[in-house]
Amino acid sequence: MRHITPLRYINMLGMKIIANQKKSLYFALKFSDIAELMQTVYINKLKNHVGEEVTLRGWLFNKRSSGKVQFVILRDGTGYIQCVLFKGNVSDEVFQLADRLGQESSIEVRGKVKVEPRALGGYELDGTDLKVIHEATNYPITPKEHGIEFLLDKRHLWLRSKKQVAILRIRHRIIKAIRDFFDERDFILMDPPILTPNAVEGTSTLFKTPYFDLGNAFLTQSGQLYAEAGAMAHGKVYTFGPTFRAEKSKTRRHLTEFWMCEPEMAFADLNDDMDLAEEMLEYVVQTILKEKHDELKVLERDTSKLENVKKPFPRISYSEAVDILKKNGSDFEWGNDFGAPDETVIVQQFDRPVIIHRYPAAVKAFYMKRDAENPKLALAVDVLAPEGYGEIIGGSQREDNLDELLKRIEEHNLPKEVFEWYLDLRRYGSVPHAGFGIGLERTVSWICGLEHLREAIPFPRMIYRNTP
Ligand code: 4AD
Ligand code: MG
Repeated sequence: MRHITPLRYINMLGMKIIANQKKSLYFALKFSDIAELMQTVYINKLKNHVGEEVTLRGWLFNKRSSGKVQFVILRDGTGYIQCVLFKGNVSDEVFQLADRLGQESSIEVRGKVKVEPRALGGYELDGTDLKVIHEATNYPITPKEHGIEFLLDKRHLWLRSKKQVAILRIRHRIIKAIRDFFDERDFILMDPPILTPNAVEGTSTLFKTPYFDLGNAFLTQSGQLYAEAGAMAHGKVYTFGPTFRAEKSKTRRHLTEFWMCEPEMAFADLNDDMDLAEEMLEYVVQTILKEKHDELKVLERDTSKLENVKKPFPRISYSEAVDILKKNGSDFEWGNDFGAPDETVIVQQFDRPVIIHRYPAAVKAFYMKRDAENPKLALAVDVLAPEGYGEIIGGSQREDNLDELLKRIEEHNLPKEVFEWYLDLRRYGSVPHAGFGIGLERTVSWICGLEHLREAIPFPRMIYRNTP
């Protein structure tokens, strides 16, 4: 019967009862099964079941007892609820079971839903029964403090912890917000390949893998070049997928595998690109503030700083950013790339993300268009997150002129043959175009207020870790 929806079953049932009164007892029994089936609910839907008897399924998060009462905290992924089992209300067997059960045992609890403003989540279950699905003993992650390496080794279990659940639920909502933002604006999602024949973001961070008789393939550093082909086919596209960098740096902002969303627009320049990045960040942050209040609270995130993420963001040129550094006593030299400490000084001057444009071409990628007013500059843009979270977005207007692009490929010592297809985009109906990449884990870690990117992705990959 389980493959028939409860509503359909009840309809069928009603018709059969009318057709055959004699079998009504049989159907009445079945009806109770269905009623029970319908009452297995998720914790985040309890508000619809106040006063009703329901069954909850999940894992034992925590418990305590005071002689005649067992307080069992159940989690089911959607939330947490305290189930109160009074000695007189449940069988002795169930009472002893609850007393014995270890953390993370999988259980089914039955009881009546009560409003309890003092309880976490606002509800409590007045328990009448408890069944064990699987009894866990000696769960390795206890409420005491554990070292980070231990937790990373146990990442497959650590994912169940309250803070980790909150982070990954926010990550999910951020992904949806980014996709909604582009979908609502007629961008087409286009998936680029992961195995690629060439570098996009410099040759020093490539992961190489043998590829049959064709030599080597490289794990993609960015889907951008393919997004450019897509923009010429669809006008506006975005990619959203894993990207890889063999980053030798062991910083808290670098992963070797991270997720990036890369919009690309035909007939767009650097200003259009900055407008898009600004609007998207406002949309994403305001959506999370509106919809992920409970999770942000679990993370003890100071949301006042996120409230400010509204248009317009400050827009300054690279040279203006260098002036800011100098005014703040730095000996930073024009022409270098900003390091993390420089970025922190720059963002400290503002109360929201900072857009920095027109970087020295020498520190940026080969595909960026030069500024017509100063060919030493690339029409590049980075967006720096507040509170020291650093660069979350990197983008540019692309070089759309065939000869200029050929020159850049040569200057960067890149093999022209593998870029022939990319050069075709400048041979057949080339147009001004621009785009950017937003790093998902950097965005998650900023919005969640995390110390390190490793908690912003389910299974982090770093220079010194590729397990579990
Ligand atoms: O600035 P990046 O290298 O730009 C590109 O890849 C362009 N192709 C994007 C484009 O124009 N379509 O990377 C973009 C963003 C960074 O701002 C950062 O948020 C993130 O990707 N990122 C990383 N995140 C985690 N770990 C790493 N090793 C990262 N490298 C870049
Ligand atoms: Mg960058």
